Amino acid sequence: MSTEYGNIPEETIDAVLTQHDIVETVGRHVHLTKQGKYMKGLCPFHSEKTPSFTVTPDRQIFYCYGCGMGGNAIKFRMEIEGLSFPEAVKIMAEEAHIPFQSTSGKPESPQDRETGRLLQAYEWSEKFYHFLLKNTEHGRPALEYLRGRGIGDKMIDQFGIGFAPDRWDTLVQFLDKRSFDLTEMEKGGLISAKQNGEGYVDRFRGRIMFPIANRSGKTIAFAGRILGEGHPKYVNSPESRLFNKSRVLYNFGQARSAIRKQRQAVLFEGYGDVIAAWEAGVHNGVATMGTSLTEQHAAMIKTTADEVLVCYDGDNAGQNAALKSIPILEQAGLQVKIAMLPPGVDPDDYIRSNGGDRFIRQVVEDAASTTKFRLANLRRGHRLTEESGRVDYARAALPVIAALTSPTEREVYLRELSSEVDVSFDSLKQDCNLIRQEQNRPAPGQGDPGPVYSDSKQGGRGGQYGGRGRDRGDYANKGGYGKKGNFGGGGGNYGNAEEDFFPQERRARPNRDLLPAYQTAERRLLFLMLQDRQASDYVEQRLGNEFNLPEHAAISAYLYAFYAQDREPDSSRFISSLQDEKLEKAVSAIAMMEGPREWNEQVLDDCIREVRKVPQLRGIERKREDMMRAEKDGDFLLAAQIASEIIALERQ
Ligand code: UTP
Ligand code: MN
Repeated sequence: MSTEYGNIPEETIDAVLTQHDIVETVGRHVHLTKQGKYMKGLCPFHSEKTPSFTVTPDRQIFYCYGCGMGGNAIKFRMEIEGLSFPEAVKIMAEEAHIPFQSTSGKPESPQDRETGRLLQAYEWSEKFYHFLLKNTEHGRPALEYLRGRGIGDKMIDQFGIGFAPDRWDTLVQFLDKRSFDLTEMEKGGLISAKQNGEGYVDRFRGRIMFPIANRSGKTIAFAGRILGEGHPKYVNSPESRLFNKSRVLYNFGQARSAIRKQRQAVLFEGYGDVIAAWEAGVHNGVATMGTSLTEQHAAMIKTTADEVLVCYDGDNAGQNAALKSIPILEQAGLQVKIAMLPPGVDPDDYIRSNGGDRFIRQVVEDAASTTKFRLANLRRGHRLTEESGRVDYARAALPVIAALTSPTEREVYLRELSSEVDVSFDSLKQDCNLIRQEQNRPAPGQGDPGPVYSDSKQGGRGGQYGGRGRDRGDYANKGGYGKKGNFGGGGGNYGNAEEDFFPQERRARPNRDLLPAYQTAERRLLFLMLQDRQASDYVEQRLGNEFNLPEHAAISAYLYAFYAQDREPDSSRFISSLQDEKLEKAVSAIAMMEGPREWNEQVLDDCIREVRKVPQLRGIERKREDMMRAEKDGDFLLAAQIASEIIALERQ
């Protein structure tokens, strides 16, 4: 019998894990030092100064006590290279010369093969354009143009920038000579069909080529910029089976690890901005493809970040786009900050005239809260030197402030507003409270800022911001966004695995919560069950899935199923069968625990008893409440009966 995970036969996964040693796999990215049975190093998935990242050679897994990331060698490659599970297995299988089939027995579908050929063609085209830029006469003017813009060889290589000569069929010939099917290439957006339908011509001519990669770093499209002025400034690849603008962020593949480390992404408008920022040391920058930000983009960022710094152009279009991006990002659960650039300046310009250090200090680090940004944006539309301008501004600003949930925040912004518009703080506060009442009333016509301000000269805008402001308030209410999950930080359930084997460090961090006894017992049981099938059978018969923590119950269920397939104890392989990040991390943490591996029935029974206590204690608790209620109702007979039940339960 054989099981499949994501259409990959179990044998392939087994072979991949056998051929890729965890220490070697991790060692390519992390400097590991030996510490007894473990190897330690600085975690590549979050920023840290003292190592809390651990690898256990004999269990073939890794686990970080700082951020809770953990798993086997496949998981490590997935995370560090931004690969999906099948992608990682495929690459690792190829590296170890293991035959890889996406579905057991079945060959790749024709669509898969076409995608493969197209990816290959994009990769070669990228290298070809890059070569032409750097090494040929054709490329010289483009190279000079780039140098003039401050883009040197280092960035040209880093971003794979190239040049498409101003001729009709440079790429067509290149692909044709390499036996690519030109019809297929045209469908994939690399070349264009001639108007008369006979033959093909290059799509990009006389343009600087910026390769656009998917999240695994494979090129799937190009953006071609004209040299100097001209129209259109950019020509992008059309959407294809590989390329969907609303799901692709420029530079996401390269930026991923920096985004993860900082838990923050910087969102730009232009390719040039991303590149200039990279050179300035901002490696967590990404950009949309000249289209507006979508929910999918936001979701993509949310997989690796908690916060987004929106860094759009300082012109009106840029600022309006920034305003529009706020609800999309907040909706995805991201915190949002907005970088404020001088009017008419884009990040690229700013870096070129002020230098990278100043960009980081004055733009990135000084980014504004969304409220501050909204207010600044409103202020710009009003003449504060005139009384009517001040009144209008106050009217537009109040709904934004009123929507804030924190009274402190409201007060800060109201005080600022008071001095800007020269109106007393108290009157502003009164108005603000009135608007709050309006906003909190479940009004028909959602997003309507209320009758008070709908007659403002800036009616449309005021209304718009009022509506948004209210949305924001709602999200703020939910709170807790972007916080680490249960298995995340040192405070999480699994951060405490450390207790079991770094006693010195535990002393160094004294105020760590101790796990309740039943949790320790559950973890001890799972730890022993992971090493020994008989222990697992024993627990299955006596406790089944009745672990108190849902994650533990799930792990036990998976483990029983794993052994039921006649598999040997193996934490690393077991993790592969889970296909669930939260559980993978939890199992990694448990498998990393220190302590005697020997067990007997006594040991298991003790743990089981501890685990069972919880529902019993809860039962007793409930009976106590019943008893109290009976006493209050004067039903002393019933109360006495419950009391004797409680005593019997407690004896157990
Ligand atoms: P910008 O006009 O700000 O371009 O458009 P840019 O990135 O600053 O370009 P440089 O610095 O002049 O070289 C911002 C983004 O809008 C898209 C591109 O993604 C560009 O990066 N765009 C712009 C297009 O897709 N087509 C265009 O014709 C213009
Ligand atoms: Mn620009």
